[in-house]
Amino acid sequence: MTKGIILAGGSGTRLYPMTAVLSKQLQPIYDKPMIYYPLATLMLVGIRQTLLITTERDLPHFQQLLGDGSQWGIELFYAVQPWPRGIPEAFIYGRDFIGSDQVCLILGDNLFYGKLDFLREALRTNIGGTIFGYPVQEPQRYGVVELAPDGSVLSIEEKPTHPRSPYAIPGLYVYTADVADFAQTLRPSARGELEIVDIHRIYLLQGRLQVRLLGRGIAWLDTGTPEALVEASSFIHAIEKRQGTKIACLEEIALHQGYITLEQFHQAVERLPASPYKSYCLRVATEYEQLRSGVLR
Ligand code: DAU
Repeated sequence: MTKGIILAGGSGTRLYPMTAVLSKQLQPIYDKPMIYYPLATLMLVGIRQTLLITTERDLPHFQQLLGDGSQWGIELFYAVQPWPRGIPEAFIYGRDFIGSDQVCLILGDNLFYGKLDFLREALRTNIGGTIFGYPVQEPQRYGVVELAPDGSVLSIEEKPTHPRSPYAIPGLYVYTADVADFAQTLRPSARGELEIVDIHRIYLLQGRLQVRLLGRGIAWLDTGTPEALVEASSFIHAIEKRQGTKIACLEEIALHQGYITLEQFHQAVERLPASPYKSYCLRVATEYEQLRSGVLR
């Protein structure tokens, strides 16, 4: 079994004043709060137990928005990270939650769109750590991985001034349960944070790190700056408008994944306020019923 962790803390200063009262991961990406997208990613690959880690200030907002997850047939747990002292702290605060299970960590501001088979396969084949490489124009803004022609890892660096490859490491990682022990052994870097690259390096030294390159079929979107927020919103808007479907509608995902029955879906949707989102959910239910009765086959 794989458990999920969404790290959704941090101070969000780059988005100030939007983040003065509301966390970055609750800002809208077109028609939904940002946190819906990483949660949808986890749900779509079969992860039904997820720990959301955030700040003390923002915890009540997330709880109000997402609850215990039962409306989507999943279990949501919460933990507080008082200060943003580094991504690996997710495994320190998440230690008891992880237990002896594999864990998939996604940063609450990372959006993925496309066929998620790469992640399903990573969950199946991971032997230690699995990270991904995604070609970008400005790799210096991210963790960067450099591979040899045979696929072996040559270097991993956090925000290098002179990147050795175009492959950024997205905020989506798969680890075996021992990641919690490794996180405990890390020391803060010069900038005073525990660094996720140091976790990668431990698995690399043990010969247990896999890197999978993501192709053009996957969109990995950034939400770190006001401009990136607008771009991500435009992207979601363009696809939703063209297809008439919604990306990251959690009720729809829960129904199609079989996490809830059609009856439970109706109960969940009934509680939603009148809105285009609710109308969409009602349409999903109708189409689902037609599909089941063979009309749309
Ligand atoms: O987005 C992918 C990148 O995320 C990776 O390529 C980098 O290797 C990784 O370090 C990270 O880089 P960022 O510059 O985006 O890191 P940032 O400090 O902004 O943290 C990313 C998100 O995680 C942010 O929304 C806040 C949250 N966070 C971060 C830290 C350090 C926490 O909740 N707690 C933390 O302690």
